[in-house]
Amino acid sequence: MTSTDALPVLDQTERVILRAAEEEGGLGCPCDLLVVGDSTGALTAAALELVAEHPDARVHSWSASRAETAALAERLPEALAAGRLVLPTGTEPAPLEEFAAGAEAHLVLARLPKSLAGLEDLARRVAVLAARSGREDLTLIAGGRVKHMSRSQNDVLASVFGEVHASRGLGKSRSLVAASPRPGVEVGTAATGAVRVAVRGTERELALRGAGGVFGGARADVGSLLLLAALDSALVAGELAPERETVLDLGCGNGLLTAYLAAALPSAEVLGSDDDADAVASTRATLAASGLERAGVQVAWDESLSRVADGSTDLVLLNPPFHDGTAVDATLVQALLDAAARVLRPGGQLWVVHNSHLRYRPEVERRVGPVRERARDRRFTVLSATR
Ligand SMILES: C[S@@+](CC[C@H](N)C(=O)[O-])C[C@H]1O[C@@H](n2cnc3c(N)ncnc32)[C@H](O)[C@@H]1O
Repeated sequence: MTSTDALPVLDQTERVILRAAEEEGGLGCPCDLLVVGDSTGALTAAALELVAEHPDARVHSWSASRAETAALAERLPEALAAGRLVLPTGTEPAPLEEFAAGAEAHLVLARLPKSLAGLEDLARRVAVLAARSGREDLTLIAGGRVKHMSRSQNDVLASVFGEVHASRGLGKSRSLVAASPRPGVEVGTAATGAVRVAVRGTERELALRGAGGVFGGARADVGSLLLLAALDSALVAGELAPERETVLDLGCGNGLLTAYLAAALPSAEVLGSDDDADAVASTRATLAASGLERAGVQVAWDESLSRVADGSTDLVLLNPPFHDGTAVDATLVQALLDAAARVLRPGGQLWVVHNSHLRYRPEVERRVGPVRERARDRRFTVLSATR
């Protein structure tokens, strides 16, 4: 079996993206293709097939997710080694418009981002790329399930591109096609917000920043606020004393929990870590806007703490991705709990918040250690687990 045999087949949305690409004049040349946010590798593999007959053509595949970027490299090693596939490299996220600056492409193929803020960010970056590389014909084709699509997505695209239309549908999927980027478009600035939280028992305002499609934008997550209130009470009560210790926020999003840790524990080593490049940018901006940048406070683009040493950490905070339904998500949440368990030193603690209707407690106990319930309301439950 070759590595591409292991790739999932194209789903309906990916097929409607590719069909719209053909309808928009197909490949033509310059014939590099730019793929954005390919979570399975199927779209990138199909793009590689499309350009196969052009010996110099390359597919540039960019994702905000560190895990997706690594998975693409694993799934398409031959194309990568041959230079036909170009992926972001390094441990720092590269903005799309910088990563793709060398691409000779006139089509960008993407799935529609989940949030409007994420779509506007993508559209702006494509427009900036077009302006910088002199490619006024650069066209964005973004596909999605019709039930998740709205008129607002067209409006967002129309604020950045002169021509926007919907493709023909394919089953329950459709693409939006955006061409003729408007002149003078710039990369957007992060959304701004603020929240008041107790830090060592005294109320303090933390500035929040939300870049691109980051979870929650610049708003404080209600579950995280419940976690912080319980954690701050424990700190005030002297139950936790991680003053000079190593603490981290796994899945830092807009940086609310990281900023709290930096404020409440001024001499601790603090790490905010997230798989999402927008979360990394947001957390850095939140720390800067809150006046909490200092030596010992760091933010990493990393999947499941892969660069954090085993047994090195005293305290991990976790607000895991939310999932509908009643079952603990086997692939995501368990991997995050295992990552927390791996990096905690014996006696170190994980503090986790979850939706009250989900049964996380046995899972947390089994994977990390003895659990104590720290707070609970109708929507959220906060647990601590000792390694
Ligand atoms: C529910 S959000 C919480 C964000 C933030 N901590 C807060 O409280 O608002 C979960 C975050 O986990 C991140 N994430 C999901 N899986 C991850 C993984 N395997 N490694 C690192 N971060 C991950 C997501 O990108 C997202 O930012």
